[in-house]
Amino acid sequence: MNYKIAVIKGDGIGPEIVDEATKVLDVIGEKYGHTFTYTNVLMGGCAIDATGVPLPDETVKICKESDSVLLGAVGGPKWDTLPGHLRPEKGLLGIRSALGLYANLRPAVLYAPLKDACMLKPETVKGGLDILIVRELTGGIYFGERGRRQGKNGEEAYDTECYSVPEIERIARVAFETARKRKKKLASVDKANVLESSRLWREVIHRMAKEYPDVECRDVLVDNAAMQLVRDPAQFDVIVTSNMFGDILSDEASMITGSIGMLPSASLGEGKLGLYEPTHGSAPDIAGQGKANPIATIISAGMMLRYAFDLQAEADAIDTAVLAVLEKGLRTPDIAGVGGQKTLTTTEMGDAIRAELRA
Ligand code: NAD
Ligand code: IPM
Ligand code: MN
Repeated sequence: MNYKIAVIKGDGIGPEIVDEATKVLDVIGEKYGHTFTYTNVLMGGCAIDATGVPLPDETVKICKESDSVLLGAVGGPKWDTLPGHLRPEKGLLGIRSALGLYANLRPAVLYAPLKDACMLKPETVKGGLDILIVRELTGGIYFGERGRRQGKNGEEAYDTECYSVPEIERIARVAFETARKRKKKLASVDKANVLESSRLWREVIHRMAKEYPDVECRDVLVDNAAMQLVRDPAQFDVIVTSNMFGDILSDEASMITGSIGMLPSASLGEGKLGLYEPTHGSAPDIAGQGKANPIATIISAGMMLRYAFDLQAEADAIDTAVLAVLEKGLRTPDIAGVGGQKTLTTTEMGDAIRAELRA
């Protein structure tokens, strides 16, 4: 079977990590008899440099015509002073919105060999960690009305958080259905003690919980959730939350599983077309130095095989190869932990994973 993948390498470490992921897909293709054809498209800072805008129409068109989209990361200091509507990040928000990708699944799994890279005490994580953050991705404060105006004290700026009932219902549905297939425990994270949008969020969640009596559902205020993730992360199975809270909590969750370089994600909508991207950013501080961990992107490509193409054995093979490499003690600098062992470059880590796949 031939699968058409639109590839957005993006900025910073984006091209380095995406190349490792597509080379992994090629090995899967050889081994299982599939072909993956890639169309490189521009988004982010590189698109601004080439075309003047962060998300060219051509990119949206090609993504829509593809079977799936693989993304590295966008952004960097070069474009940080541009006005909001011309920033690289606006391209990312634009593609998520244009493709209707309202559900962002961010699994935070602690791989057993990485216990040393985890910042928490061994006894806190001894049973392992397997948390799924279900982040709302096309609403909330990211997409609310914003602007600048003259107030009584001069210039002021505002961003608004707004959620409609259908927007909450559809993300809640994803979360309840996913929880049902896991440990049946759902934590809905909000700030209902202050925000009206969170109070509506909570009402909808409670209403829907009645449809899922087999799922144990509870509310957690976001400040407490941030604390509980460090105090006792194993209490969580599925977390469902708004766009901004999900952004923040997923970076936090990544660190308790070892490194942000390990956390993949899938951005999904109603149809089959999804966007697969690491949780981390373009890491300008290490770009071009071969220091980036490609694993988050490689596992994101694995999620693509699983969710977009229903290639379960192939996706399992990627997860197994990553685990095998970690078990052998192979590490990029971000997961090296203490002890100063010799580390692999981005390409060497990709090579090691591909060697496992071929073995
Ligand atoms: P970042 O995630 O890029 O980097 C934070 C820290 O984590 C850095 O020290 C970086 O070196 C490290 N890191 C990140 N990914 C790594 C990897 N794969 N391997 C090893 N170390 C890794 O966050 P930031 O520095 O706040 O943002 C940099 C730029 O990326 C900004 O322009 C931001 O807007 C953008 N960004 C883009 C995305 C995306 O495209 N999906 C996501 C987050 C941030
Ligand atoms: C992420 C990123 C993006 C977000 C930015 C770059 C727009 O931080 O994917 O987590 O906040 O969604
Ligand atoms: Mn983020």
